[in-house]
Amino acid sequence: MKFLVVGGAGYIGSHMVKQLLGTGHDVVVADNFSNGYRVEGVELDIADAQALASLFAEHHFEAVFHFASFIQVGESVAEPAKYYQNNLSATLTLLQAMVHAGVKNLIFSSSAAVYGDPLYTPIDEDHPKTPINPYGRSKWMVEQVLEDFDHAYGLKSVSLRYFNAAGADPDGELGERHEPETHLLPLILQAAAGRRSNITVYGRDYDTPDGTCIRDYVHVTDLCSAHSLAVDYLLEGGVSTALNLGNGEGFSVQQVIDAARRVTGRDIVTSDAPRRAGDPPRLVADSHRAKALLGWQPRFASLDQIVTHAWNWEQKYPWN
Ligand code: UFG
Repeated sequence: MKFLVVGGAGYIGSHMVKQLLGTGHDVVVADNFSNGYRVEGVELDIADAQALASLFAEHHFEAVFHFASFIQVGESVAEPAKYYQNNLSATLTLLQAMVHAGVKNLIFSSSAAVYGDPLYTPIDEDHPKTPINPYGRSKWMVEQVLEDFDHAYGLKSVSLRYFNAAGADPDGELGERHEPETHLLPLILQAAAGRRSNITVYGRDYDTPDGTCIRDYVHVTDLCSAHSLAVDYLLEGGVSTALNLGNGEGFSVQQVIDAARRVTGRDIVTSDAPRRAGDPPRLVADSHRAKALLGWQPRFASLDQIVTHAWNWEQKYPWN
């Protein structure tokens, strides 16, 4: 099979490329390299309709994996235009190019952010979609566009709603790196490595057992396995759908720090700060649908394992 991975130079996309190549597929990576790694691939912005048309004319793809989006919630509030331009408008350009080229299958990186403040947890796919920031809205808008494109053009898609992607390639070849880094685990491990003086805990006054926010951390390799299963599902004639991806278990910010202390054996200094705007107290996935429909079974569901792989990467690649 030949697949196009858009955003294949980023954190999750690069792990996906490795997995697809490892299972014997042909992969073309398209990325604008605004973030992520310099990998071999086509430098292309999905807002560029002509470049997309040439790419689709040159290759026959069975499916497209779309990872190319901006992901910072806070930034999306300050710069909504950037988010609607890239995450929505450029995605529309990509979808139109796919329709034009007759490529019928898409795996789309969506987010738990489509749900907004949860009314209940664990969150299932039927939970109301009331995103509370432009990032979440851009993802939910694309999901709705995909429904319309299926009805009108027969474009089949699986939208995968990630909870908190974390961890790194178990072989230690790839890992998580964002510029600037805003994600909890890499920041904690940078503090463990001495690359920052401390980790700031945003809020200890939440209505949770230890007062810090609870998230459902899911290993990046497990996320990628779900994508592989999702593409098989579509290629076997599955109908378009949206699925949560999480482990169904929540860990607090303090528990993640404690796990990092255990795994690294380092003293990690914390400092307390007020709540970060827009952080719901608890986000935990109900992923039964992904398991039932795709046969997905996370392999690295333990928090210590996620932290261990991330730490191996952090130590191997001491970024400055
Ligand atoms: N946190 C800290 N200190 C930090 C960074 C984060 O205490 O320095 C806390 C946050 O307040 C939050 C938790 O750690 O409670 C996780 O924060 P992240 O920034 O790592 O992740 P988010 O849960 O905010 O966001 C992630 C993705 C988003 C996605 C969202 C949906 O990064 O793209 O999950 O669940 F929208």
